[in-house]
Amino acid sequence: MPASNAVSLSAFLEASSERVEARLQAALAPSVPAADNLFAAMHYSALGPGKRLRPALVYACARIVQGEHFDPARCDGAAAALECIHAYSLIHDDLPAMDDDDLRRGRPTCHIAYDEATAILAGDALQTLAFELVLHSEAEPRLKVRILEELTAGAGARGMVSGQAIDLASVNRTLDLAQLEAMHRLKTGALIRTSARIGALLGGADEVQLAAVTRYAEAIGLAFQVQDDILDVTADTATLGKTQGADAARNKPTYVSLLGLEGARQKLEGLHRDAREALETVRGDTGLLEQLADYIAHRSH
Ligand code: IPE
Ligand code: IPE
Ligand code: MG
Ligand code: MG
Ligand code: MG
Repeated sequence: MPASNAVSLSAFLEASSERVEARLQAALAPSVPAADNLFAAMHYSALGPGKRLRPALVYACARIVQGEHFDPARCDGAAAALECIHAYSLIHDDLPAMDDDDLRRGRPTCHIAYDEATAILAGDALQTLAFELVLHSEAEPRLKVRILEELTAGAGARGMVSGQAIDLASVNRTLDLAQLEAMHRLKTGALIRTSARIGALLGGADEVQLAAVTRYAEAIGLAFQVQDDILDVTADTATLGKTQGADAARNKPTYVSLLGLEGARQKLEGLHRDAREALETVRGDTGLLEQLADYIAHRSH
């Protein structure tokens, strides 16, 4: 994974996916023979064909802080931990009691490919594995504690899980714009923000650099979910790898249902601008983070 300034986003995404997948493969080798099915379900969901965006943010934010001294091996454990939390959140998000979806990443969701109880347990175990991965990572003990603090805040009831709770409580209800934004910032923005902050911390960021990276990540985190809402309406199931129109079918409040398609697109462009502006205060070569923001705002799936 190159530390030099000029790097194409696709090469960087490929290299970071390879690193994180190798770490996940190793962590998910079945180690309790009687629970083979559980390990298979964890493997199916954590290593399915996802974009690995959160790990990429960990690496990219460490890289911008560390510059030419960037050492991706330092980030592998935390990057894999973020992907485990993400994979667990998707397994649970798709369950019948939540969004009740049967397609994810172009394949049957975990509870369809296995069964509901196994899917719940695979999610539980992936969450715990995330903490194990940080504990067994290369970082110094004090930094591990700091990373765990970030991870628990972003993933738990102060972060993603509350966002999901608000999402489910909002079915068949109308939220105002401020409520919708608060929900999106929690359910999706929190883990994206956490990924960027953990990367910056692994790179050795001071508080000023951390704050600048955080502003960037907050903008792309919300942009990511606005684009998710747009794609739910505009993309097709084959491209998305998940069922198109699922939000409308379940009567979920989204940026599109509240602002219309054009309004949602304008919101997305505003957030994309905010992200680029935030990068003006980030020290170092911001080319890669700019490309990542473009990718998030304009992704097709
Ligand atoms: C999907 O996330 C769930 C949301 C937070 C909107 P991604 O679009 O990053 O999912 P994968 O990992 O690439 O499948
Ligand atoms: C999912 O939001 C957020 C989390 C999994 C935490 P969505 O429910 O919109 O995600 P998709 O559209 O199913 O991927
Ligand atoms: Mg959901
Ligand atoms: Mg969903
Ligand atoms: Mg969605």
